[in-house]
Amino acid sequence: MNVLSAFKLDGKTAIVTGGGQGLGRELALGLAEAGSDVVVVQRRIDLAEETAQDIQKLGKKSLALKVDVGQPENVEGMVKQTLDKFGKIDILVNNAGVSGWIPAEDLTLEEWNRVLTTNLTGIFLNCKYVGQQMIKQKSGNIINISSISAFIANHPQEQSHYNASKGGVNTFTKCLAYEWAKHNIRVNAIAPGFVGTPMLKEAGEEMLNIWATLNVQKRIGDPAELKGVVVFLASDAASYITGHILVADGGYLIW
Ligand SMILES: NC(=O)c1ccc[n+]([C@@H]2O[C@H](COP(=O)([O-])OP(=O)(O)OC[C@H]3O[C@@H](n4cnc5c(N)ncnc54)[C@H](O)[C@@H]3O)[C@@H](O)[C@H]2O)c1
Repeated sequence: MNVLSAFKLDGKTAIVTGGGQGLGRELALGLAEAGSDVVVVQRRIDLAEETAQDIQKLGKKSLALKVDVGQPENVEGMVKQTLDKFGKIDILVNNAGVSGWIPAEDLTLEEWNRVLTTNLTGIFLNCKYVGQQMIKQKSGNIINISSISAFIANHPQEQSHYNASKGGVNTFTKCLAYEWAKHNIRVNAIAPGFVGTPMLKEAGEEMLNIWATLNVQKRIGDPAELKGVVVFLASDAASYITGHILVADGGYLIW
């Protein structure tokens, strides 16, 4: 097979959670540009619909769904509605995530649960219900969005609950890669560094400059720079890769 054709996703059906804005929106568009139909899942349906319309302009089918990834009945409904429209699920990108800064000694159980429920329990639920379908299909491809925060204590901001959630994502990814290899399902994660999404920009110019300085490329990434990474992992070009955490961080972690 010609190597470039291995990157093509024509005829595939993908689900991208949190696909209405930020990184998820770019990942959804990237998968569609590579040929996939894409279900855009989001708590805010208006944002999901905007991305879905842009995917349709690319000549691909799309469906916008209002889903809270931390709610099992929402996730089961997402699987059902996707199967009703597309009949299969080839690719799942678990991107929805939330963050927050608070010193550990002041962290309430409520705030801990808010972050863990979306970032880790949400990934468990999506993998479980989509995974059951992929097992029936005897094929599938899951990509979890982790973070460089899974590997380090960030500074200067204090965000132990966020980092713990992403550390859990990495370990869960490897366990599923082991358990589901026998079903022809690959499970990988992407660990982005700082990329300029609405979540990141909320931090303000001063923090963005600090993070850019800590990065060997001396810049914040553009969310669109992750499109190629997700297409690679979702495609046959990555057929011998599973259980891998692919860091895309402009070199943040190397020093
Ligand atoms: N921006 C960065 O620098 C960066 C770095 C590393 C990892 N990440 C990760 O990338 C992912 C996307 O982050 P982003 O920067 O685009 O953030 P963002 O806030 O701009 O977008 C996150 C999206 O997820 C959605 N979402 C949140 N909770 C949800 C839920 N329970 N159910 C459904 N949708 C939900 C939000 O509505 C939003 O559309 C997150 O998992 C984040 O942790 C981001």
